[in-house]
Amino acid sequence: MSPPAQVLILDDDRFFCHLVRDELGRAGLDAVAEHTLAGARETARKLHPDVVLLDNQLPDGDGLTLIPDLLRANEDAKVILITGFPSFDNAVDALRDGVHDYLTKPVDLEKLRTVIRRALRTGELERIEQVARRRSAEERDSSALVGVSAAWREVEALVQRFAAAGSPVLITGESGTGKSLLARSIHYAGPRAASPLLAANCAALPEGLIEAELFGVEKGAFTGAVATRKGLFEIADGGTLFLDEVAEMPPPLQAKLLSVLEDGEVRRLGSATCHPVRTRVLAATNLPPEEAVASGRLRRDLYYRLNVLRIHLPPLRDRPDDIPPLCRHLLMRLPPGRGARLGPGEERLLRLYPWPGNVRELKNVLERSLMLQDGAEIHPSRLLEAFALPAADLPAGGDETLLPLDELERLHIHRILRACDGNLTHTAQKLGISLSTLRRKLRDEPTAAT
Ligand SMILES: Nc1ncnc2c1ncn2[C@@H]1O[C@H](COP(=O)(O)OP(=O)(O)OP(=O)(O)O)[C@@H](O)[C@H]1O
Ligand SMILES: [Mg+2]
Repeated sequence: MSPPAQVLILDDDRFFCHLVRDELGRAGLDAVAEHTLAGARETARKLHPDVVLLDNQLPDGDGLTLIPDLLRANEDAKVILITGFPSFDNAVDALRDGVHDYLTKPVDLEKLRTVIRRALRTGELERIEQVARRRSAEERDSSALVGVSAAWREVEALVQRFAAAGSPVLITGESGTGKSLLARSIHYAGPRAASPLLAANCAALPEGLIEAELFGVEKGAFTGAVATRKGLFEIADGGTLFLDEVAEMPPPLQAKLLSVLEDGEVRRLGSATCHPVRTRVLAATNLPPEEAVASGRLRRDLYYRLNVLRIHLPPLRDRPDDIPPLCRHLLMRLPPGRGARLGPGEERLLRLYPWPGNVRELKNVLERSLMLQDGAEIHPSRLLEAFALPAADLPAGGDETLLPLDELERLHIHRILRACDGNLTHTAQKLGISLSTLRRKLRDEPTAAT
């Protein structure tokens, strides 16, 4: 739970201070009273109050002169000026000096509570906005696309060309090829970059929930719809909505999605009216969409609407030239990857591997390698099933019973590692050895096929 908001009351009227402090205490706020400018300056420095109730006439001067000190202590502090001599000029001056709100004496306690609540809410919204802005800056940084192959250059050229458009883009490609990343890049490369980018995974939610999530709900639409809620289409208005695994969307919703794309307006669940939206849709699927249409999963009319602009991400095995730059890029970003490099012969081996999990698999293997490494060089190929025990290591006929003991152990460790999806802790538990022993054993394996 966050700590209670701090309120500083500055007024030479002690009775008034007392009254307000009690009232705010009952509302769950922490209030401190001061009666002079000097005292308030000292308290503000110590407490960094969120809200300050400021009387403009104090025994040692004008309350407004305190504002720069208050804002220095907490630049997000909300100052509410309370004056016994209201005038329009006064109010304008006060706003210019950085006052957030303005009340006149005698103060109505109910009104005071409302004003304080509103000031705190404004502060909260400002904080949320700051966090969102920082997150979107981080996202923009992490939307860099890496690749040098001819196939990749074509993808990048399409991103640049499509970013400026407003029509939907259909992004296809196997799992882990970078479809979600590509959607982010298209958003941040275009004129909508400063507007929201929201995402929904159409396979992850049951039908009723996706409908409410995407299109919103009108209060009273069904039992439980206690308040009106905007859907992602409306929240992302002016920005981008990324619909992942769009072929998994239930068919009735596909029809609704199509009508939003055609008409540019959404109707919330249970509502009679439509709201215009200018949200751009990017959709992804890892099923080939033509197959999804043929099997009746994806509506043909929606497919035609989404397929206006199309980008296909080729699997990593078809663009091995991208593997070295991807490794360098990912190693820079993975903790503690800075300064780590591939050991000799690794590049050649990694280019030979078929990467069924594409770039995501490459990233996971590098991450595991970094965890196991001793020096600056890593040997990710040793963690790949296909290279861990080259066929040549097996005796003719592939009979395991004829393997030397250490080879058999290596084979067994890799089988368990695979069964545990590469999770070292689980593997060590299954094998009945400690994590450090497992790490040592993996590290000490001879380099395969270099
Ligand atoms: N060209 C690239 N440059 C840099 N990083 C990449 C690239 N392609 C993929 N990645 C990284 O690989 C990982 C997997 O990519 P992403 O999640 O975008 O794949 P996806 O195609 O959306 O997978 P899924 O179908 O499972 O949703 C991410 O960490 C992403 O940042
Ligand atoms: Mg994805």
